[in-house]
Amino acid sequence: MQGSLSGNAGPRYRHVADESAPYETIGVDKTTPIIGAEIVGVDLSKPLSNRQQDEIHRALAENMVIFFRDQHITPDQHLAFGRLFGDLHVHPAAPHEPGKPELMVIHADKDSPRANGEGWHTDVSCDLEPPMGSILYIKKCPPKGGDTLFASMYAAYEALSDRMKAYLAGMTAIHDGEQVYRGLYKNFGVADKDRYPRAEHPVVRMHPVTGKKALYVNRGFTRALVGVPRDEGDAILRYLYEHMENPLFQCRFRWRENSIAFWDNRCVQHRAMWDYWPHTRSGNRVTVAGDKPY
Ligand code: SIN
Repeated sequence: MQGSLSGNAGPRYRHVADESAPYETIGVDKTTPIIGAEIVGVDLSKPLSNRQQDEIHRALAENMVIFFRDQHITPDQHLAFGRLFGDLHVHPAAPHEPGKPELMVIHADKDSPRANGEGWHTDVSCDLEPPMGSILYIKKCPPKGGDTLFASMYAAYEALSDRMKAYLAGMTAIHDGEQVYRGLYKNFGVADKDRYPRAEHPVVRMHPVTGKKALYVNRGFTRALVGVPRDEGDAILRYLYEHMENPLFQCRFRWRENSIAFWDNRCVQHRAMWDYWPHTRSGNRVTVAGDKPY
């Protein structure tokens, strides 16, 4: 069956969850066995203990995207939460709150020409050092819709054939922000820059915390595979995109007001649904800086 992982010898992707040690200071309720978890028993408006911070970090490493409900935090608390995980990243193009360049605006309403993140992507993978993680706090939700989908790029990599893994080993790809960002935020009154980032990254990257391999090409930013003819590279990319969009690798988050999603861009792609027009969906994103992929 085209695009299917089914066969006659059991599942092609065999996920074994890492449940080696219990959590002591937070609750972790998995969304699916493969990706996502809701964190319970944490109030992000209060200082976190070192143990809570460590366990949140561990929950992110184990689940790739974590969710918090019913949080009431100020913009400064949102920024401070992000800084617990590293320096903050400033988006090369997107609008931000006045005087707070690290606090990106995420907003769509009846007059919007588009909504943020509508196609599968990894945030700002065109940067030389793309963001490690993104922390999205949605404060205004439509009555229905506006979900965000997340997909595990560990699972997508693992489910490839050994021959495809061997083909991709050591290969790099060009990621380019130019076609993505030029003119994109005109409706927010953001003027274009002379240039947008462009970078060459491994097609399969190693996660610096877990040591696991993840596919690192995405429809949003990846333009070409390096070192192979254009038609061959385009065909391989098309296959990889179709493969990584298999629902087996995904979870889907249904937002409620005052929820937070924190995803790890090193091993996750995401896609936001704009199925709620003419309603409004609004919030802020804090993005944590990352390292050069290897
Ligand atoms: C984004 O790509 O950061 C936006 C995701 C969303 O709005 O759900």
